Amino acid sequence: MEISSFIQRRRELIEKLGNGIAIIPTAPERMRNSDVQYPYRFDSYFWYLSGFAEPEAVLVLIGGECPQSLLFCREKNPSRETWEGMRYGPDVACVAFGFDMAHPISELTPRLPELIANRETLWHSFGHSSPWDAKIVAALNTVRSNRRSGKRPPKQIRDLHSLIDDMRLRKDVSEIDAMRRAAVISSNALRRAMQVCRPGKMEYTLEAELLYEFRRHGGTPAYLPIVASGINACTLHYIGNDRLMQDGDLVLVDAGCEIEGYASDITRTFPVSGKFTQAQRDVYGIVLSAQEAAVAALAPGMPVADFHEAALRVLVQGMIDLKLLEGSLDGIIESKAYRRFYMHRTGHWLGLDVHDVGAYTREEEGEGEEESQKLEAGMVLTVEPGLYIPCADDVPEELAGIGIRTEDNVLIMADGCKIYTSAPKTVEEIEDTMKKAEHERRKYARNNT
Ligand code: GLY
Ligand code: MN
Ligand code: MN
Repeated sequence: MEISSFIQRRRELIEKLGNGIAIIPTAPERMRNSDVQYPYRFDSYFWYLSGFAEPEAVLVLIGGECPQSLLFCREKNPSRETWEGMRYGPDVACVAFGFDMAHPISELTPRLPELIANRETLWHSFGHSSPWDAKIVAALNTVRSNRRSGKRPPKQIRDLHSLIDDMRLRKDVSEIDAMRRAAVISSNALRRAMQVCRPGKMEYTLEAELLYEFRRHGGTPAYLPIVASGINACTLHYIGNDRLMQDGDLVLVDAGCEIEGYASDITRTFPVSGKFTQAQRDVYGIVLSAQEAAVAALAPGMPVADFHEAALRVLVQGMIDLKLLEGSLDGIIESKAYRRFYMHRTGHWLGLDVHDVGAYTREEEGEGEEESQKLEAGMVLTVEPGLYIPCADDVPEELAGIGIRTEDNVLIMADGCKIYTSAPKTVEEIEDTMKKAEHERRKYARNNT
C-alpha cells in the first residue's frame, strides 16, 4: 500500500481533532511461554494511520493551527537487531512513513504531559489497554499538578475510536485493492480444500491446505480456520479441526487470509465424497437462495439491516418447506422460533478486522432515535446465511446433523454491489471441481504405479 494513503488518512483525521491531540499506540507483543511469542499483529487503528508494522510504537496526531503527525518508535539497536531483525529507528521511519517528526519510544512517557498540556481535547480510547489508560491518567495528573506554571490539562477527553471507526467504514481504493487480493488467495484456498478433500482424511489436513495457500502468497490467517465436518458444522465457532471426515458428511470450511492487514472471510460447505445427497442439496439450495436475496438488498442508500431481513425470510420459508417448523412465515419471524436453526446475523462489516468496526445504526437527524446505517459506495460486508439442523427426535431424520453456510465478501459500488470472492459455489460448480480433482488423482495414480 502506498505511503500516501496513510498520510492522507492522517490528514483527514487531524482535520477532525480540532485543537486536540490524539494518542494511538500499537498492539503489545504477547508471550506464549518463556522466550516464545505469539505471532505479532499490529493494532488495526495504528496501522490504518501509519502503515508501520513494528511493535513498541505510538502515533501522536496534533490538530489545530500547527497540525503535526509524530511517531515514537524503537531506536536502532544492532545487538537486538541481530536476534530480532531490522528496526527502522526514528530517523529512517520519519522519512519512510512520511511523519513530520519521529522520536525514540523511550521519550514518550516523559514528554506526554508537555504534549497534552493546553490542548482543548485529548482524544484517546479508554478501556482498551489498562497500561495505556494508566499512562494517560498519570500524564493528566502531572499537568494538573503543574497548573501554577501556566499549564492546564485538556478540557475534554473524547473517544478516538468512534472517530476513526467512521473513516474505516468507507474503504478507499488502496484498501479495496488489498481486500481483493486477500479474496483471490482465500478463494483459491477454498477451491484447493475441495480438490484435496475425500473420505478418510482428517479435518486438519484441509486446514493445512488452506494455510499453505495463504502463506505461499504472502497472506496470514485473518482468524482461526473452521473445518467442520458432519455435526461439527452445527458448532458455529468450531476450531478443533480434528475429526475424521467420512463418506456422506458435508464439511463446512470458513477461512480467510489477510493481506496488508485487510481480511477476507469466506465459507463454503461441500460433500466430503464430492457428491451431495438429495437432502443436502435441498438445504444447500435454500441457503444459496437466501444469499441471493440478501445480495439483492445491497445497494447505496439501502439500510444495512435489510439484507439480513431478506435472507431471513428465505431461510424461514425453507424451514417451513423442510418441515423443520410449523406456522406462518411472519409468525415464525415474530416469535424468533427460527433461531433454533439460524442463530446469527447474515453478515458484518469487513476490513482490517474480520468483524470490522463501524456502526450498524445511526441517530436519526433531529429525532434522537436510532435508524439503520445506510449503505454507501466503498463499504464492504460479508453475506453469510446458513442453516444448522441439530440431531433431535423432532427433526426429519435425513436432515439431522446438516450444517451449511455460504459466505462471500461484497463491495458496495455506486451502482449496486459486487461479490468479489470466487470459490466454487453452486452444487454443479462444487461437484465439478471435486470430480475433476478425483479424475486427476486417478490419472496420476495410474501413471505412477
Ligand atoms: N469467520 C467468522 C465469521 O464468519 O464471521
Ligand atoms: Mn467466516
Ligand atoms: Mn463472517
